[in-house]
Amino acid sequence: MPCTVIVGAFWGDEGKGKIISYLALKDKLDFCVRTGSVNAAHTVWDGEKRYALHMVPAAFLYPRCRLLIGAGANIQVPQLLKEVEMTNVKDRMGVDQQASVIEEKHSVQDKNSAHLRGIGTTGWGVGPALEERVRRTAKLARDIPELKPFLADTVTEVNDGIDAGKKVLLEGTQGFMLSLYFGTYPYVTGRDTGAAAIASEAGVGPTRVDDVVIVYKSFMTRVGAGPLPGEMTKEEAQNKGWFETAAGTGRDRRSAPFDFDLARKTAKINGATQAALTKLDSIFPKCRGARKLEALPTGARQFLKEIEDRTAVPVVLIGTGPDARDIIDLRK
Ligand code: IMP
Ligand code: MG
Repeated sequence: MPCTVIVGAFWGDEGKGKIISYLALKDKLDFCVRTGSVNAAHTVWDGEKRYALHMVPAAFLYPRCRLLIGAGANIQVPQLLKEVEMTNVKDRMGVDQQASVIEEKHSVQDKNSAHLRGIGTTGWGVGPALEERVRRTAKLARDIPELKPFLADTVTEVNDGIDAGKKVLLEGTQGFMLSLYFGTYPYVTGRDTGAAAIASEAGVGPTRVDDVVIVYKSFMTRVGAGPLPGEMTKEEAQNKGWFETAAGTGRDRRSAPFDFDLARKTAKINGATQAALTKLDSIFPKCRGARKLEALPTGARQFLKEIEDRTAVPVVLIGTGPDARDIIDLRK
């Protein structure tokens, strides 16, 4: 996997953080570039310790991975500094000088806008910050004194890394159905969240990407307003053990069963070459902690086969528990 994009299939919260942290440790990633902004939290478990990362790349668990924030990303400075401290990654964290910055006023604008309240944004201010960037009045990372120690030309670093055969992961955030272009507009986020956009935000050309790993969760969830096909009540979700709250905002997540047609569509538009499926243990509790395909019950295997048949993408990583290592890895 010299250069791989990780993209979420649905409305975010598919478990990208877990998949990325596993790949970081297993493949010994050289670079991980985070895209998007502070609205997305990636949950990473290291044994009993849980991290909800809004800014630091989820590959931090592997201590030799260089951690970057791409030029297309948007930085919430206090949150980044807090997470750098918490994860102790000061010496290997790099921020692109051209990444833009979210300020406190953007969060105030986000929270005070009736329109954005109706969409149910996270309130971090990402939409208003991106508006400013488009207007070309936004501050960039290079304008912020606190970011000086981290400033880097991440685009050159990553492209030189790819030339040198290093292992590079481009970390997508949120999910494809929240894409400004392809999602459930206007109930979407302020950017394209697809695989092509992830590569673009990181400054990597499409021909340099070797694999696109689409991440599915075994059921679908969404926070905020907007359509969710097959949505069930909170009680039904609780009974099935699918009820979740958001890692970032603590809000209730709405839930629905896995949608094979939607899975097929999102795999195609993102050009997925491989799929990861997370939380198989929440629909088949006997899968919990399994690390071999043979350990899965028949129903779980049928579910996997149906996903592969309907999406035409091989499911190569199967999450069976929260820890980064609770995974069945079927890659060659
Ligand atoms: P915004 O991105 O904060 O503007 O919010 C727009 C919509 O995207 C709202 O429905 C949010 O709940 C949703 N959203 C944004 N980021 C995430 C995420 O990381 N996970 C899940 N939903 C998200
Ligand atoms: Mg999340």
